[in-house]
Amino acid sequence: MELTSPILVSSIILISTILFLLLLQRRRTTRKQTIDGAPTLTFKDLVKNGHRFLDWTTEMLLSSPTNTITLPSTVATSNPSNIEHILKYNFSNYPKGHNITDTLHDLLGDGIFNTDGDHWKLQRKIASLQFNTKSIRSFVTNAVQIEVTTRLLPLLAAAAVSGEPIDLQDTLERFSFDNVCKVAFDVDPARLAGDAMDGGRFARAFDTAAEISTNRFRQPRFFWLLRRKLNLGEERRLKEAVRTVNEFAMKVVHDKKLKGKAGDDDLLSKFIEDDSEHSDEFLRDIIISFVLAGRDTTSSALTWFFWLVSSRPEIRRAIRDEVSAVRAKHGSEPGQELKLEELREMEYLHAALSETLRLYPPVSLEPRACLADDKLPDGTEVKKGWSVMYNSYAMGRMKSIWGEDCMEFRPERWLVNGEFQAKSPFKFPIFHAGPRTCLGKEMAYIQMKAVAASVLERWLVNGEFQAKSPFKFPIFHAGPRTCLGKEMAYIQMKAVAASVLERFELEMAPGEEKERAHGFTIVLRMNGGLPIVVKNRD
Ligand code: HEM
Ligand SMILES: *[C@@H]1O[C@H](CO)[C@@H](O)[C@H](O)[C@H]1NC(C)=O
Ligand SMILES: *[C@@H]1O[C@H](CO)[C@@H](O)[C@H](O)[C@H]1NC(C)=O
Repeated sequence: MELTSPILVSSIILISTILFLLLLQRRRTTRKQTIDGAPTLTFKDLVKNGHRFLDWTTEMLLSSPTNTITLPSTVATSNPSNIEHILKYNFSNYPKGHNITDTLHDLLGDGIFNTDGDHWKLQRKIASLQFNTKSIRSFVTNAVQIEVTTRLLPLLAAAAVSGEPIDLQDTLERFSFDNVCKVAFDVDPARLAGDAMDGGRFARAFDTAAEISTNRFRQPRFFWLLRRKLNLGEERRLKEAVRTVNEFAMKVVHDKKLKGKAGDDDLLSKFIEDDSEHSDEFLRDIIISFVLAGRDTTSSALTWFFWLVSSRPEIRRAIRDEVSAVRAKHGSEPGQELKLEELREMEYLHAALSETLRLYPPVSLEPRACLADDKLPDGTEVKKGWSVMYNSYAMGRMKSIWGEDCMEFRPERWLVNGEFQAKSPFKFPIFHAGPRTCLGKEMAYIQMKAVAASVLERWLVNGEFQAKSPFKFPIFHAGPRTCLGKEMAYIQMKAVAASVLERFELEMAPGEEKERAHGFTIVLRMNGGLPIVVKNRD
């Protein structure tokens, strides 16, 4: 079992808690659910399915009439109305909670990713302001393109010459770590270049610290607390790793502050520019949170993407056609860096990546703590101190959201292909609605179209990407705590996918064509990596 990011490790706590509670009530083998018809949970089931927790809860959620189940002290749901309630309408009743934030405090401190309440609110305000400027957008694009053209493509080209299989998942993880550090504080750990530089030490310490911090979720709380107190084993290594991470980050913060208003465009410089009174610790924490949030998520998505398209030549062709068409329009040559505008115009690629995220959400389970007794829109009771978690992996597999073909990888489902999309007449009652709807509607359109076709143009969305409600597609979370890196993630994923597919053909390494599985991990990593052989096109 590999735990690469703590975002969701807390579900492991949940399993241990559930196991424990079930042990206590072992004689009562079944538990009555709050919703009639929802599946019942037995101790035997849990033991049998603990290792495939994600798929197993998905099966239960899909067979429950309201897509919600009650486990001991825990409510799991994939019901969009419930999710909208938890993440938006009753946001203040469902924070991350101390059980999670205390466990990650040594590494993350009070950074945006690991706080609730006013301290979170302040950081959120600053960060969303600074992460949405034009200059940071071009900084992100530039950083991504440099990493793609000077490291990723040469690495793949070398693999094409040698013919040796490489693990694409590992390569992409190195890529996204380099990239997020560059964007967060203008540091290059050079992971894709073999950790050669000073930042490499930081990168290794960060990995160690993240891994040991998340391991804490797998033990009873008193156990790691005691080991921390005695400074033993893993906890000692954690302390050392955190010291390295902090020293490095503090030095960067210091140097940046000394430099003053140099007009640099990385996130840290933006925060300092925003208010030079922020304490060094405050700046360090917020930066470390960003590195954690951005490091394994996009690499997971891209790994599943390359695997999914490896068996779908027609989808690879459609992506390449789109890349060529966009390049032709902008007068750029294959192999040149792709500009932000060009990436923006790749609607089909945007759809193919979103389709990947739908079936393989990098963050599949999200737990929240319940502060006070409450009732969810579907009638499920939640008690104070319980955990409420939503399962976006299950949501991508729900016919009620995606239709009968929800298990199919079909990017087209995200596109509206030049067809007129009528709105409900109750949202657009221009011609009245119901029994007395205007009788002359059709004639009116014929007339208007003949006279002024251009007036209607904006209703014709030509192969454009259509976003889903974030409560039906909560891959980037939703509500006030929505992922701040969503736009950066798409820029990064599109740049990598377009540049790699334009130049190379990636094939699964011989003997590795089988289905790929994911472990029970926080970020949805592929078991055994993604072994591929690289071929030059043409
Ligand atoms: C495909 C890629 C990504 C996915 C699927 C994703 C998903 C998520 C999710 C589910 C959350 C909520 C986590 C929680 O509250 O426990 C989140 C939060 C966050 N993400 Fe992302 N993320 C991605 C990429 C990124 C990148 C590249 C960055 C930044 C460089 C980033 C920065 C953040 C930050 C700062 C938060 C915390 C927001 C807050 O608590 O207010 N993410 N992301
Ligand atoms: C957090 O832990 C405490 C025990 O330390 C427990 O009583 C509480 O229910 C937990 N809350 C959540 C949301 O997990
Ligand atoms: C939110 O949760 C509280 C419990 O803290 C509950 O009393 C209240 O009715 C809920 N609010 C909404 C809008 O459902």
